[in-house]
Amino acid sequence: MPITFMLNDRSISLDVEGEMPLLWALRDVLKLTGTKFGCGAGLCGACTVHREGEAIRACTTPMSSVQGRRITTIEGLGGQADHPLQDAWIRHNVAQCGYCQPGQIMAASALLAQNPSPTDEDIDRAMAGNLCRCGTYSRIRAAIHDAAGQLQSDSGQTPAPYYQSNLES
Ligand code: FES
Ligand code: FES
Repeated sequence: MPITFMLNDRSISLDVEGEMPLLWALRDVLKLTGTKFGCGAGLCGACTVHREGEAIRACTTPMSSVQGRRITTIEGLGGQADHPLQDAWIRHNVAQCGYCQPGQIMAASALLAQNPSPTDEDIDRAMAGNLCRCGTYSRIRAAIHDAAGQLQSDSGQTPAPYYQSNLES
């Protein structure tokens, strides 16, 4: 029986086995290759997507668990425009090889949805499972602070003090 779910705000039905990892369905069946295959074992975060807004590992998530749920990938994160995190990533030149970055941005966006003004410690805790072999961690942190400030400005709130200092550094 087909598995029906919302993918990037569109209803979709796939005739696949329930045990198939979501990552396989995204990349091999749907050709959405923004979500990356790293370890395949839930250890690196390269395959991070959202299920109902929560960051999950697509490589260890069976298709049976997405039935009727809302899945968001990097391709659908910002809707019609880039997400403020994607703009901040560019401003801070975060990516090196880029392979881990979709997963990093998906993890960061789930963090900001829950915590609009994270501290360094909040960021380090939330992002700890997303590995970057190129060592872009300090730029990732700066970009998250930048995007958090941007989102607060857009919502009419006063940006946290570190927003400006990070932009100037
Ligand atoms: S590929 Fe899924 S956590 Fe590494
Ligand atoms: S940018 Fe190369 S692995 Fe993170």
